[in-house]
Amino acid sequence: MTDKLIIFDTTLRDGEQSPGASMTRDEKLRIARQLERLRVDVIEAGFAASSNGDFEAVQLIANSIKDSTVCSLSRANDRDIARAAEALKGANSARIHTFIATSALHMEKKLRMTPEQVLEQAKQSVRFARNLVGDIEFSPEDGYRSDPDFLCRVLEAVIAEGASTINVPDTVGYAVPELYGNFIKNLRERIPNSDKAIWSVHCHNDLGMAVANSLAGVKIGGARQVECTVNGLGERAGNCSLEEIVMAVKTRKDYFGLELGIDAKHILAASRMVSQTTGFVVQPNKAVVGANAFAHASGIHQDGVLKARDTYEIMRAEDVGWTANKLVLGKLSGRNAFKQRLQELGVQLDSESEINAAFARFKELADRKSEIFDEDILALVGDESVSLESEQYGFVSLSQHSETGERPRAAIVFTAGGKEMKGESDGNGPVDASLKAIESLVKSGAEMVLYSVNAISGSTESQGEVTVRLQNSGRVVNGVGADPDIVVASAKAYLSALNKLQNKADRVAAQG
Ligand code: KIV
Ligand code: ZN
Repeated sequence: MTDKLIIFDTTLRDGEQSPGASMTRDEKLRIARQLERLRVDVIEAGFAASSNGDFEAVQLIANSIKDSTVCSLSRANDRDIARAAEALKGANSARIHTFIATSALHMEKKLRMTPEQVLEQAKQSVRFARNLVGDIEFSPEDGYRSDPDFLCRVLEAVIAEGASTINVPDTVGYAVPELYGNFIKNLRERIPNSDKAIWSVHCHNDLGMAVANSLAGVKIGGARQVECTVNGLGERAGNCSLEEIVMAVKTRKDYFGLELGIDAKHILAASRMVSQTTGFVVQPNKAVVGANAFAHASGIHQDGVLKARDTYEIMRAEDVGWTANKLVLGKLSGRNAFKQRLQELGVQLDSESEINAAFARFKELADRKSEIFDEDILALVGDESVSLESEQYGFVSLSQHSETGERPRAAIVFTAGGKEMKGESDGNGPVDASLKAIESLVKSGAEMVLYSVNAISGSTESQGEVTVRLQNSGRVVNGVGADPDIVVASAKAYLSALNKLQNKADRVAAQG
């Protein structure tokens, strides 16, 4: 057994299945590049057969990423598998990840198939995939709740057909660490050809145990691949979090004794990029990447850390990318300095016109805010609410008036399909008035299901980052906007969500 633990990141596939977290092709590419910088072994770039958008995103990532293996999910049928192989054609190293449910509940109620039919389909799909791509991963969906005897038959058969990675999902987050670890161990011991495959864990966090279960799958079960997402992003309570599993294995190398290829100093930038892109804010007390993860408030702790940092710190903040909130650029910084800082932050803007547009926004921000931090720059390049030609709605300007005892009013100018529009409204507060002013013209009828404001770099001088989640006709989208004025940030976030509602193409659900 090798002592390398493979990190398989599924932020762009399973993570994207969170309500409202869907990302554009370019956003996915930016995140994939950051994952490559992090030296993730496998990037699951999407589910190519689910929509044209997903196909294009997988294809773009496969053509652009050189160091990580690029993978596409695929249901266990020839059409999906052929589509995945097509999307992955340009990859340096490609993997198809095919799956079919094996629990009695899923087979009977969802697939309406007998166990024998499922077994045949699993074998046939791996055989078909193996002729198209050399590296095949197979997952028995709801594997942890499947009958172990049946699972052994399926897994032995797909290994014989050429699956080189066997992933055992705890699809509904039902496992507990010791039981999950032993479940994997028993499968490996009972299946005669189990040593021909690398075993992988894929845990959901419904009971808050995804990381613990994954670690047990590694330690007790002997798994050598962990499937995870940045910030633990994922449906319901999310997936196993990349930053936590990586830092657990690194920090407790004395116990796990495993090597990782990951370059951990890019973890924080990856976390910020994912939260700013999806609008899923990281809680302050989140391990490794939360704002408080390395903050010591109590006098005793502060005193201890100053005397000897390992009194209260088990990891070094700088090892996962925390710097002292560095002032990077200011009003007088030129285009070259800005471009270089973007590169250092891992942001690659593809065309000169994109760089020029981002630089113009940087200058505008620097006029209003004397100190520009890395977080500001990341928010600025992630901000799609400004008038991009390809977007339906773009922010132009806003004025609002609020005074104690008076009902606030707002007037907003924005573009709709390239034409300027001006809306006015009153509201319970300035934010409410501004969003009602937009809605008075757009009439989207969307329901707001979440509104949150977060200070990007801590103080009241920082930019406010707003997330707005809208729901309309069964679709859920998140819009994100940033600005030193939180009313403007809110309007930008609302317009960005409206753009996503417009753009979001229908797709087939992976587990539907
Ligand atoms: O949770 C799950 O079962 C999955 C599979 C598609 C691997 O995400
Ligand atoms: Zn999953």
